[in-house]
Amino acid sequence: MGTILRPLLPRKFEYVLFKADSLEPPEDADFTVEQIGPGQEPTPEQQAFFVRCVGSMGFWYQMRWVRRGEGWAWITRNDGQPSSTMFATPAERLRKIFPVITEEKAMNIGPGYTVPEFRGRGLYTKMVQYAANVAKEQGWGPFYGLTSLSNAAAIRGQEKCGLKRVGVWAGTRVLFNLIVMTRRVSD
Ligand SMILES: CC(C)(COP(=O)(O)OP(=O)(O)OC[C@H]1O[C@@H](n2cnc3c(N)ncnc32)[C@H](O)[C@@H]1OP(=O)(O)O)[C@@H](O)C(=O)NCCC(=O)NCCS
Repeated sequence: MGTILRPLLPRKFEYVLFKADSLEPPEDADFTVEQIGPGQEPTPEQQAFFVRCVGSMGFWYQMRWVRRGEGWAWITRNDGQPSSTMFATPAERLRKIFPVITEEKAMNIGPGYTVPEFRGRGLYTKMVQYAANVAKEQGWGPFYGLTSLSNAAAIRGQEKCGLKRVGVWAGTRVLFNLIVMTRRVSD
């Protein structure tokens, strides 16, 4: 794991990991999708929306892989209004937290964010499916999703889109961020 990821982690965390080899394409998508593909840059308007959703640090961190040509960022719109964001980036860097991630082409789907007024209509679930299908077409897989154990909406969304729960890992940062210690604590 890079020195950049470590300080972004909470000092103590409990993450649920999900996995699937492939996901069904989304059904009945009532939104349009704007894609920032590998090597592409967002427009200033797109960037402002990403920052509003995931913060400037979070956006900058995710965009590192998009810029390197190994990741995607998406914005959805409902009736022209930006409604959610999603990212897909290589999962290999998460091996230090989840030693079960061993596949070279493993892809991490997320984080996703849905604007509060658009929540509860399946945007997150459908965008996880959409993201996995775009990445699979480019030879990526399997697909992982991770979320905090306390995030009931994200856990439900990941289950709904077809990802299977792998387990819960608890971790803590020690020694001024130099080390992240993790262990699997439950299913
Ligand atoms: C998590 C989040 C992205 C879900 O977005 P969404 O577009 O509303 O998700 P979906 O509509 O696909 O719904 C997900 C499921 O969770 C359920 N859900 C929503 N809020 C819930 C809650 N507080 N507790 C339990 N389940 C909840 C929904 O009802 C739905 O399940 P259902 O269809 O069986 O009813 C959104 O709540 C969000 O942006 N949260 C803040 C950012 C975040 O936590 N992102 C996840 C990082 S991994």
